[in-house]
Amino acid sequence: MAVSSRRERAGGGAAPGARRFSYEQLDLLAGIAHDLGVAEDIPRALRRVLDQVEQVCGMRRGVITLLQSTDDELQAAITVSSISENSSHKMRYRPGEGITGTVFATGRALIVPDLARDPRFLNRSGLRQGLRERPMTFFCVPMVYREAVVGTLSCDKRGDAIADPELELAFLEEVASLLAPFVQRRRLEEQMDQFSHAVEPGGAFESLIGRSAPMEELKRLLVKVAQAPSTVLLTGETGTGKGVAARAVHALSPRAARPFVEVNAGAIPAALLESELFGHEKGAFTGALQRRVGVLERAGEGTVFLDEIGELPLEAQTRLLRVLQTRQFERVGGSETLSFRARIVAATNRDLDGAVNDGRFRPDLFYRLNVFPIRLPALRERGKADIMLLADHFVGHFARQMKKTIHRLDTPAIDMLTAYHWPGNVRELENVIERGVLLAEGTTIHGHHLPPSLQMSRYAPQPETAGSFHTLVRSYEVELITDALKDARGNQTQAAARLGLTKRIIQYKIRQYGIDYRSFR
Ligand SMILES: Nc1ncnc2c1ncn2[C@@H]1O[C@H](COP(=O)(O)OP(=O)(O)OP(=O)(O)O)[C@@H](O)[C@H]1O
Ligand SMILES: [Mg+2]
Repeated sequence: MAVSSRRERAGGGAAPGARRFSYEQLDLLAGIAHDLGVAEDIPRALRRVLDQVEQVCGMRRGVITLLQSTDDELQAAITVSSISENSSHKMRYRPGEGITGTVFATGRALIVPDLARDPRFLNRSGLRQGLRERPMTFFCVPMVYREAVVGTLSCDKRGDAIADPELELAFLEEVASLLAPFVQRRRLEEQMDQFSHAVEPGGAFESLIGRSAPMEELKRLLVKVAQAPSTVLLTGETGTGKGVAARAVHALSPRAARPFVEVNAGAIPAALLESELFGHEKGAFTGALQRRVGVLERAGEGTVFLDEIGELPLEAQTRLLRVLQTRQFERVGGSETLSFRARIVAATNRDLDGAVNDGRFRPDLFYRLNVFPIRLPALRERGKADIMLLADHFVGHFARQMKKTIHRLDTPAIDMLTAYHWPGNVRELENVIERGVLLAEGTTIHGHHLPPSLQMSRYAPQPETAGSFHTLVRSYEVELITDALKDARGNQTQAAARLGLTKRIIQYKIRQYGIDYRSFR
């Protein structure tokens, strides 16, 4: 739920810091910030905060509610330890319903000075008896994360213990702003748990080869996120398998039988992109002779894969953001409102943070997409075993395709493959093997069937010795210098200029690392 403005504060919007919080309150805020920063078990950390607020501020019945993705209801998710699980289960509100629902729906904090007299009070928990004798004031503040309300924080305080209700409310708002990112994380975890009934990845991972720890972790995340309706952002260097991962998310999801529709923002001329995504009506622009159904419409309840999302022009970004906010869109030049029900998986090999900073990517769209970022590991982080698994897989694949009988890679070829730093990742490995299969005359791929770039790899670190600071620095230097030499076709002066080094330094390094610059000519 989006909010346009936070609560208007009485007194012309004084900054929260300017309010007269007590020393204990300030100390508590600092403690909360610290505790949450180091917390591993989020629900426990949130409960601890509520308990502390009780103790320090004399508040009672602290409750954090979250919006449940399945039924659109707010549910008490974290409560102080004195509220039984049984009571907290009963605390469910639809947005707009009761005081909590109202705060959620409007994004505005509320004080109810005397609960018993407020018609919106529902007493779902059944915990508050004897309100008529001891008036209770109820405070409820929205938890706002990146301009969206993700839940509420509420508690009671005895009316006769309150000197300045506005100040109490302001304090809770401060607490809520510290909690919001963690509440959002909890919400995502809950969404995933709801769907985490065992799924057998089976076939979906056949195309995603790799057994290394980073790959196992990747698969675990893909299985999890596939079950939830969340938007997924796949990041990673070129050739790491973002396209493969996007298909796996779809195949593992309950939408697997629905369409998977892909659009590459970098490959389509900017002028055509909006019509590609949203479709257009006949006559929407010159040359629009027919109505055209766009990607979002074709996807139905399936998955839209927005590849190279970093290349999306700004106007299309604005339009896409609106779709994500409202789940609705119109065809270009059309007035009919269509609803958007697909899941979005976006991918980029560009640093979107950087694009946001440069003003090339809308920050609000970035946050909408960045709900569940998954980074694909670079091939060099995945270790020898994965390189060999992939190499074998591609040897088999291309040998079949080219109708050749190839049994193996010889030892030098294996050494070269495993020592290389793979800047182009799996795609580069795939190309290298394709070339090797093509060049092989007999049943074996030899070292000399691999391209020159790999002949250099004896300078790169062996995985066994990688890890120490100096080895890593050294291998990075070797990588930078060989890349520059490649670009400069072995010309040391040009390579030095590319790196901003003097010729003397680059010559020294080339000798130090034994790089054969002539091989790049
Ligand atoms: N884990 C993997 N197992 C098998 N094949 C893979 C794997 N990862 C990538 N590939 C293959 O490598 C090639 C590149 O993968 P893909 O196109 O998904 O990369 P990408 O991350 O989308 O790269 P780019 O950012 O350049 O678009 C494809 O042919 C793909 O099939
Ligand atoms: Mg790709």
